Amino acid sequence: MVVFGFSGSPRQNANTDRLVRAVLAGAATAGADARFLRPQDMDMRPCRACMWCRENRGCAIGDEFSLLWPELYEADALVIGSPVYMWQMSAQTKMLVDRLYPVLNPDFSSRLAKKPKLALCFTQGHPDGDFFKPYFEHTAQMLRFLGFEVLPPLAAVGTRAPDAIEAQPELLEKARRLGRSLVE
Ligand SMILES: Cc1cc2nc3c(=O)[nH]c(=O)nc-3n(C[C@H](O)[C@H](O)[C@H](O)COP(=O)(O)O)c2cc1C
Repeated sequence: MVVFGFSGSPRQNANTDRLVRAVLAGAATAGADARFLRPQDMDMRPCRACMWCRENRGCAIGDEFSLLWPELYEADALVIGSPVYMWQMSAQTKMLVDRLYPVLNPDFSSRLAKKPKLALCFTQGHPDGDFFKPYFEHTAQMLRFLGFEVLPPLAAVGTRAPDAIEAQPELLEKARRLGRSLVE
């Protein structure tokens, strides 16, 4: 069982990385082959709307992310983590999400035969966990449309300093449980 976890934070080893890694750690304890990736640090470019993926499987860009496609189609689960930037996902996360276009057929049905589970997690400076809930749910709906079984989004709040999430052991434990539920 393979689980890909993407952290869309530009800050290495900060809150979003730690949150995604906690979800992956939970998946790993349940037996998954959990792989952590950071779009910021990958050779990864934005979708260029060449539409090659409308008629073919995978992506024609030819960067590091393109090479993942055979495995991404077969992945059992995904984790996508993003910091909230200007009330939305970060640019790095948006680049990743746009690059998921190959999961759709030209008629917008999904090419994902397995309906992989997807854990969506956010970190935010705002202390109110309900503040961005409509946006998180909107994002979850978009990912459901792509063919994922999206679990209820998880958010870490008040995470300004890069390691602020470490003061929230219950949240990190919740993240590990979320990871286990991706596998079990
Ligand atoms: C450009 C930028 C925009 C941000 N916008 C918001 C925002 O709209 N709402 C919010 O609650 N926090 C906002 N934040 C704070 C981050 O969401 C928060 O610190 C997050 O945990 C950072 O993730 P990281 O620790 O993985 O880098 C912003 C931070 C930056 C750098």
